[in-house]
Amino acid sequence: MTKKITISGVPEHLPEDEAAVLRSRLLSAYEDMDTALPGINPVISVGPKGHSKHKKQNVDKGESEKSNQYTPVAPLYSFEQLVLPPKIMSEITNAIQILNIEALVFDTWGLREIEPNPKTALNFYGPPGTGKTLSAHAIAHYLKKKIFIASYAEIESKYHGDGPKNVKALFAAAEKEEAVLFIDEADSLLSKRLTNVTQGSEQAINSMRSQLLINLELFHGVVIFSTNLVENYDKAFETRIRHVEFTMPDEKARGMIWKKHLPELLPVTSEVCPFDLASRVDDVCGRDIKNAVINAAVEAALNKKTVSQKSLLKAIHNIKDTRIKSKTKSPKGKKLTKQERADLSIKVKESLKGNNDKTDIEIIKQ
Ligand SMILES: Nc1ncnc2c1ncn2[C@@H]1O[C@H](COP(=O)(O)OP(=O)(O)O)[C@@H](O)[C@H]1O
Ligand SMILES: [Mg+2]
Repeated sequence: MTKKITISGVPEHLPEDEAAVLRSRLLSAYEDMDTALPGINPVISVGPKGHSKHKKQNVDKGESEKSNQYTPVAPLYSFEQLVLPPKIMSEITNAIQILNIEALVFDTWGLREIEPNPKTALNFYGPPGTGKTLSAHAIAHYLKKKIFIASYAEIESKYHGDGPKNVKALFAAAEKEEAVLFIDEADSLLSKRLTNVTQGSEQAINSMRSQLLINLELFHGVVIFSTNLVENYDKAFETRIRHVEFTMPDEKARGMIWKKHLPELLPVTSEVCPFDLASRVDDVCGRDIKNAVINAAVEAALNKKTVSQKSLLKAIHNIKDTRIKSKTKSPKGKKLTKQERADLSIKVKESLKGNNDKTDIEIIKQ
């Protein structure tokens, strides 16, 4: 049985990629419910109040035309800029070395018989702003390759319902260009596939996951996924992909990150000390540090001053404060608590029990 679930009351001009994330997050939450509703396929759509059906975005396109919609870019960052604990750094470099020793191991030593397509598939997981995207760029830079950047939401939603074809086209494009493939926000893509589904959006996600498996098997190159909160990896992906955990930087790492974000040309007062900043402000990620430096520099430029230790401290505290506030305000990117999950579960079940074909689940703005 298919049931329509409409998440209404979201802003009218919600970008399609955010809508796709909402759909996939709700679907994951639904899949995670302890007492699932057997045989019910939710079709989830997102929109403003009164909205009831998802707009089909585009007509089907040919495969090569699809591949052409993806263009690789030159990597923006290198390992020089990256600060990671040595263990994680060597995990990454070991994984990519396989490409350098491919000829020896797979041709001279004959391993191509058992693996015709040696590949490196990595999953960078961990909190936002800890260097996952930066690392993907650094890998491409190290390998002297370009990089394709796509997010799960884009793949799923660009041509709604065409997810599997988009996955295929993306891999084809990366193979053709010999570029590194980076798939951001891949949580839903790597989650457990569902059994016994017959139609609806579950099936659409399942087909994307199956297509991804096929492409992973055939792909010859480096593919990197980035995820925040996968709780339930699909076994097939769990074993085919190397998982590398990114964590919030400790004091030493923060000091190095501060240092790397203060270019020599930046006019700073003599007392500016990255390691002092690191020891004074904890629980900040690399992105917070980057933004603090930018904010302090902009303020200095506007006021015709140099960047001081005090202005950097003020900027990082500001960022930390607003980050903590927005974290508690927005459910996006945050794991559901047990209570939230239970509430959501009750809401979904109640609305699915109703006789109406159209069921509204309101996401209450906080
Ligand atoms: N480990 C790190 N080392 C150096 N800089 C970092 C690190 N983590 C984050 N940054 C800074 O923050 C920016 C954003 O990080 P990003 O790689 O986009 O995070 P993520 O992809 O994990 O959300 C980077 O471009 C860099 O300036
Ligand atoms: Mg990122």
